[in-house]
Amino acid sequence: MKGLLLAGGHGTRLRPLTYTGNKHLLPIANKPMLLYGLEHLRAAGIKDVAVILGPVKEGVVEALGDGSKYGLNITYISQPEPKGLAHAAGLSEAFMNGEPFVMYLGDNLLRQGVVDFVASFNERRLDCVIGVTPVKDPSSYGVAEMDGDRIVKLVEKPKEPKSNLALIGVYVFGPAIFHAIRKIKPSWRNELEITDAIQALLTDGKKVEVHRVSGWWKDTGKPDDLLEANQLVLADLQSKIEGTFSKETRVSGSVAVESGSKTVGSVNIRGPVTIGKNCSIGPDVYIGPYTSIGDDCMLAHVEIENSIVMKGSRIESGKRIVDSLIGSFSTISNGDGAVPKGYKFIIGERSFAQI
Ligand code: DAU
Repeated sequence: MKGLLLAGGHGTRLRPLTYTGNKHLLPIANKPMLLYGLEHLRAAGIKDVAVILGPVKEGVVEALGDGSKYGLNITYISQPEPKGLAHAAGLSEAFMNGEPFVMYLGDNLLRQGVVDFVASFNERRLDCVIGVTPVKDPSSYGVAEMDGDRIVKLVEKPKEPKSNLALIGVYVFGPAIFHAIRKIKPSWRNELEITDAIQALLTDGKKVEVHRVSGWWKDTGKPDDLLEANQLVLADLQSKIEGTFSKETRVSGSVAVESGSKTVGSVNIRGPVTIGKNCSIGPDVYIGPYTSIGDDCMLAHVEIENSIVMKGSRIESGKRIVDSLIGSFSTISNGDGAVPKGYKFIIGERSFAQI
């Protein structure tokens, strides 16, 4: 069994955060999002993984390298244009070389991992296993129409869904998928849809089954999804304190603080909260539940809650910050005391501020 991790596409829905790098490197609980998928592949006993990279490659090769530091052999496959999930899968045919593989969408987070998917694929000698879960808004996803445990039909983003079972972006395929991909035509959004390729497997009488996932699943397409994914991952956070605390620091709940980080003066951290390496926190700081602070950040005179602060950022606002995504190397301050006072912004294209 091999692995295929998709990290292509433009990440347009996450702009401006994705102007300067690949969306799959955005941190969830201080870990690049695509590492969650890679760790699940490794936990299923997979060693050889191809990573699909699109036009925005920045940082991915630097972060993952040849995979050895994650116990994997990683090969990169270029997909210059995001022509669809089936197009991306098709590019991996030579790499798979007749072996079955788990295809994992790099912007999806799944609590339970893929071990069970691989087990059903192997034990039941299937051609394809697709992960599904019930959702409130099935028209945003690939949808599986079922008759009991039997798949009747698969439709990509149906306007009028006949079922609430969404495809979650994790699939196991045997080599028959490559033949099916060659048969399909681009969809209304001009993409070769993997959902259509799996439908072609069904039409050909191949053995396709669904695997209903237990535990949470999150597609991180939009900014609010990142905050929600951060909450879901932090809910399982184990406390680990490698930094140093001032004597006025109060900590409750699960809190992880990495080495080289310190608190200064009065600081109140109410977990779950994770703080990266070499941060300076305080004085007069409250960090509330579901907040992740990346490496090399500085926070003083601020209350912050349910937010992601990415590496190298500096916040000295004296205000309360909630539900926020703060990109790497950003600064939020309340000025130098000069008048006239007012809000001062240097905000890039497609930024969002609520004041
Ligand atoms: O999140 C689950 C959904 O993912 C499924 O329910 C749908 O059936 C499936 O088509 C897919 O829908 P999305 O519209 O959410 O896919 P998206 O364009 O966001 O791409 C998913 C991932 O694949 C993302 O990590 C980027 C990567 N990708 C996407 C395309 C179109 C590629 O690597 N190459 C591509 O050509």
